[in-house]
Amino acid sequence: MTNIAVEPIPQHVAIIMDGNGRWAKQKGKMRVFGHKNGVIAVRNAVSYARKIGVKFLTLYAFSSENWNRPEQEITALMTLFMQALDLEVKKLHQNNIRLKIIGDTSRFSESLRRKIARAEKLTENNTALVLNIAANYGGQWDIVQAVQKVANMVKDQQLEVDQISPQLFEQYLVTQDQPAVDLLIRTSGELRISNFLLWQIAYAELYFSQVLWPDFNEEEFEQAVQAYQKRHRRFGGIE
Ligand code: IPE
Ligand code: IPE
Ligand code: MG
Repeated sequence: MTNIAVEPIPQHVAIIMDGNGRWAKQKGKMRVFGHKNGVIAVRNAVSYARKIGVKFLTLYAFSSENWNRPEQEITALMTLFMQALDLEVKKLHQNNIRLKIIGDTSRFSESLRRKIARAEKLTENNTALVLNIAANYGGQWDIVQAVQKVANMVKDQQLEVDQISPQLFEQYLVTQDQPAVDLLIRTSGELRISNFLLWQIAYAELYFSQVLWPDFNEEEFEQAVQAYQKRHRRFGGIE
């Protein structure tokens, strides 16, 4: 059914899933209604990515700045996250998908952290797709936590300062051992990064969709991949 050219399929796709609130508002509903429908769009995006052979999919679910929202909305988002973990992990596992939660989980409740650890453990040997869910994630936080690890190694004399290279440094980011992002998608028409992956998108192709996240379906995803396939990636060189 897909019109996707076989090549090149982006190895790593990252998505800023934005517009749930506006989607709900358009329908005269509460913002939470938008988030609930956003979960359905997540399910479709994961299944589509796996189908076309994307190997790493990173979804921005909750940013380090989203704590600025009203408490009621934060609670609703955490509840949805817990529910999704309960309901979806088995299916992910059956589909050979490895789940990783990237972000500062220290601020999450004990029970949520336990669920996360169990889900990651269950799926750790799966090979079809790595699904990174960015939760309490910030690109600046990611870089700083890597700096702290590297600095500690220097302090403990396990590392010389001049051994610090981009290749070494990125091993301490939460995406260690994963390839850089090839395609970054943001929905809802906003043209910004909002502190998502910073280091990892150094050479990503950017794609902005007007569609609000709950409406981001297989056709929309396909359009993004098709746009990616028409891009000329030069990485600073010449063709
Ligand atoms: C994205 O939708 C989901 C999260 C940030 C959790 P929003 O909640 O940001 O929806 P808008 O941007 O207000 O429409
Ligand atoms: C970015 O969306 C965060 C997520 C999608 C999780 P926001 O809606 O929080 O971003 P801003 O505030 O519009 O930049
Ligand atoms: Mg938003």
